[in-house]
Amino acid sequence: MAPHQNPKIEIRNISRTFSHTTVGSDGSREFTALEDITLTVRTGEFLAIVGPSGCGKSTLLDILAGLSPATSGEVLIDGVPVTRPTLNRGIVLQGYSLLAWRTVRKNIEFGLEVKNIPKSERRAISDRYIALVGLTGFEDHYPHELSGGMQQRVALARALAYDPEILLLDEPFAAVDALTRENLQNELLRIWNETGKTIVFVTHSIEEATYLADRVAVLTTNPGTIRQVVDVQLPRPRSEGDIRSTPEFGRIRHSLWNLLQNGGAHA
Ligand SMILES: Nc1ncnc2c1ncn2[C@@H]1O[C@H](COP(=O)(O)OP(=O)(O)OP(=O)(O)O)[C@@H](O)[C@H]1O
Ligand SMILES: [Mg+2]
Repeated sequence: MAPHQNPKIEIRNISRTFSHTTVGSDGSREFTALEDITLTVRTGEFLAIVGPSGCGKSTLLDILAGLSPATSGEVLIDGVPVTRPTLNRGIVLQGYSLLAWRTVRKNIEFGLEVKNIPKSERRAISDRYIALVGLTGFEDHYPHELSGGMQQRVALARALAYDPEILLLDEPFAAVDALTRENLQNELLRIWNETGKTIVFVTHSIEEATYLADRVAVLTTNPGTIRQVVDVQLPRPRSEGDIRSTPEFGRIRHSLWNLLQNGGAHA
């Protein structure tokens, strides 16, 4: 399918400024986090976003989620402007954002309760995703009783259990060990392949972006703009063979690395 055919998410000229309480080095109280971001994510696409710390990745995801407004520009989902959070988007925010007073199972079932799914069905769904993220036996633990990586997996299970059309994932595997990370990457690809979800995946890892994505958007910093969108024309399923050691994988990873050099600063 050609890019931009059948758009799911249309990001049009998005800018986001923040007002600071102190005057910046340029004498201004305004800080431009994102400037003129235009990007279309097509239906069923896996888009990764990489860029230096502070370039506005989380800010952009918050705008896509309808959690915070853009200063200018607009985002359309299925042709409709985003103005608030809605139920067709599953979000895993940076950090864990779990409900502290709910157990692992109750966190995962939260969205299912909102959707009025009956209790027995909720239980079957939460069992499935608890097993998927390797947390069987921890169903009745509270978030503070879990490690960071475990909390991150609960957040992912919660988003997946909810079965949204769009998954917005902000470094969902940053706090898990390397082996778990590879397993979760493959599970995410399997679920994506089976369900046709549209995924926007923020990561600091260019290897992870290359392994997972159809395209990788590389952002520059200060202000955050799109430097380039790189096509990842590697065969799928990516879990077959050792794709990470192929020359083509290395070539794509290297071109992303080059784009990120100099902190993604403007040329
Ligand atoms: N609520 C806010 N008020 C003021 N400035 C903010 C706010 N949120 C974000 N910023 C600023 O906007 C810029 C982008 O922040 P953002 O969290 O989107 O970066 P990021 O790319 O997600 O970084 P990281 O990779 O470290 O998670 C930063 O300079 C940050 O200080
Ligand atoms: Mg962030």
